[in-house]
Amino acid sequence: MVQGQRMVVAPVKASPVVIFGASGMLGHALRQVFPRAVFKGREFDITDAARMRAFLIEHKPAVVINAAAYTDVEGCEENRDQAFDVNGRAPGHIAAVCHESGSLLVHYSTDYVFSGEKEEYFESDRPDPINVYGESKLLGERLIQENHDRFLIIRTSWLFGPHGRNFVDTMLALSRQMDEVRVVNDQFGRPTYTKDLATASAGLVDREPGIYHVTNDGTCSWYEFARAIIPNAVPCSSGQFPRKAKRPRYSVLGSTKTRPLRQWLEALQEYLHEYGR
Ligand SMILES: NC(=O)c1ccc[n+]([C@@H]2O[C@H](COP(=O)([O-])OP(=O)(O)OC[C@H]3O[C@@H](n4cnc5c(N)ncnc54)[C@H](OP(=O)(O)O)[C@@H]3O)[C@@H](O)[C@H]2O)c1
Repeated sequence: MVQGQRMVVAPVKASPVVIFGASGMLGHALRQVFPRAVFKGREFDITDAARMRAFLIEHKPAVVINAAAYTDVEGCEENRDQAFDVNGRAPGHIAAVCHESGSLLVHYSTDYVFSGEKEEYFESDRPDPINVYGESKLLGERLIQENHDRFLIIRTSWLFGPHGRNFVDTMLALSRQMDEVRVVNDQFGRPTYTKDLATASAGLVDREPGIYHVTNDGTCSWYEFARAIIPNAVPCSSGQFPRKAKRPRYSVLGSTKTRPLRQWLEALQEYLHEYGR
């Protein structure tokens, strides 16, 4: 270098990880696991295609994690367009831009892409959703696969954790207000702690692209889940608890690609100990 000439150091703009949906329940857990990531919460609308493209093309992150979604299963029945925009078309567009920017896309999907007529669903099983939420999430999966080749679609189920609307907190609140809390005893699944899912997600980024099922281990009904949280849950049938959206009866996710996480009951006890009161 010629003496007197200032060395120009380019500012390091590229961040290795960007997280969309960082203000959601899983988003908060991902913040703990990826503390140096760039966090984009609700203020960054993932359906704003032009803004999304400009952002990703400028920053070219190594990894894009999309935890944003329209997760209100009942709301999706009434707001189909919003459901398909947020859960379907937006992830497809993010995938197309990740293809351009060379980023790995990590995206979350759901047990509700399945009808629940089978005992356990593996990654290779054919999805057959029975409600709008499941259909919209399945559209997201399909568009990601059409638009990109470096993606992880992580299907999970029955999430609980801090910073979100979740079943555990709902049960605790209802238990204080009512003598008896009726909970359906004929829908089965795998409760999953966001902390465990976020940690497992980090361990998947070096794996082959594809679909992965990640949940805590063990199976229960919503009633059995409730009984592990509160003493005054009483069982009822889905028929006694009519909802707009049909729910899968047995949406248990199994995996042929990943080892099971710890038992859901152990994870729940940790959550209750830290956040339950
Ligand atoms: N929760 C479960 O039991 C469960 C089960 C299986 C799979 N999953 C999947 O796991 C992922 C994380 O779910 P979660 O439980 O963390 O959901 P969550 O708490 O509802 O978080 C999703 C976040 O996305 C935001 N969001 C909605 N529309 C958006 C938009 N257009 N642009 C930007 N952000 C938007 C939401 O904000 P607002 O709420 O303010 O709109 C919310 O902060 C999702 O892909 C979900 O489908 C969840």
